[in-house]
Amino acid sequence: VRPLTVLGLETSCDETAASVVRLTGGRAEVLSSVVHSQIDDHAAYGGVVPEIAARSHVEMIAEVTRRAMAEADMGYDGLDGIAATAGPGLVGGVMVGLSFGKAAALARGLPLVAVNHLEGHAVSARLGAEVAYPFLLLLVSGGHCQLLEVRGVGDMSRIGATIDDAAGEAFDKIAKALGLGYPGGPALERLAMQGDGSKIDLPRALLGRKDCDFSFSGLKTAAFRIAQTCQTEQDRADLADAVQNAIARQLSDRSERALAAYAETHEHRLFVVAGGVAANKTIRATLQATAAKHGFDFLAPPMAYCTDNAAMIALAGAERLALGLTSDIDVVARPRWPL
Ligand code: KG4
Ligand code: ZN
Repeated sequence: VRPLTVLGLETSCDETAASVVRLTGGRAEVLSSVVHSQIDDHAAYGGVVPEIAARSHVEMIAEVTRRAMAEADMGYDGLDGIAATAGPGLVGGVMVGLSFGKAAALARGLPLVAVNHLEGHAVSARLGAEVAYPFLLLLVSGGHCQLLEVRGVGDMSRIGATIDDAAGEAFDKIAKALGLGYPGGPALERLAMQGDGSKIDLPRALLGRKDCDFSFSGLKTAAFRIAQTCQTEQDRADLADAVQNAIARQLSDRSERALAAYAETHEHRLFVVAGGVAANKTIRATLQATAAKHGFDFLAPPMAYCTDNAAMIALAGAERLALGLTSDIDVVARPRWPL
């Protein structure tokens, strides 16, 4: 098999990222992965400000790309294509990376591949191990919480999704109520290590329901209320632990429904979790146990590729390129783009 080397660009939220990935058959090799986080630019506002994000992407994209090419020891003539996130996300930012990718592709005569950010997350586990299709995927990030059956490149169907907040959004909002700043997920995980939430009763949304949908609004409201009564650092740590466990429990319960249904029609049983929330150790461990209980193999991306990065975009682009699925140069940035 001829290796395909692709430059990936990611600018859909608050990281400016570029990466060079080489795909040989089913094996992906990350030659470089540069991520510039804008956390400091947004911290004072308690969340991502779209205008600030877009401006920062403009300032950083050329430098981040230059570094990714240098770290990969790569010239443009060594590339087979350029992949850029074309949505979904904050459209001002998406336009920056996509326009930059278009310009580079035009200038160097390379094919352009517009990549759906969610498809990037969907293939991210393949950055750490060879993964055969099909698999059942739990995608849990700041903007998304869904269960998908992934049959192949760009071939997936949704079997469940959140009816309100995404899991990462719940982490972020509750962390904010606990005074933990943005982004809240990693901070809440650290605080939870000091706590014991077993005495705190939180609502168990949709538990035991037949479908595979998620809901975090009830948990969020209850956690906000309890956060106001916290007196000590220990109280807050206990609440953080209870919240983390409640989210893990819901993700596991909803996934169990999907695993049971999936097992009825599939011989090859693989459960993959991806997205920023997949970086949470309690959640990884809980889902791994759930998978094992149902006779599924379990896989999560390497930690560095759970949260937003461009290696997953480069890989999704390379997989598309291998199938001849390239994009027209006038492809547009899309704020919404369901899988
Ligand atoms: O995939 P991602 O970087 O961006 C989106 O596409 O949304 O996910 C970011 C989300 C944030 O909500 C962040 O709080 C959450 O992932 N997150 C975590 C952890 N690390 C990141 N949530 C819980 N525990 C973590 N360790
Ligand atoms: Zn993401």
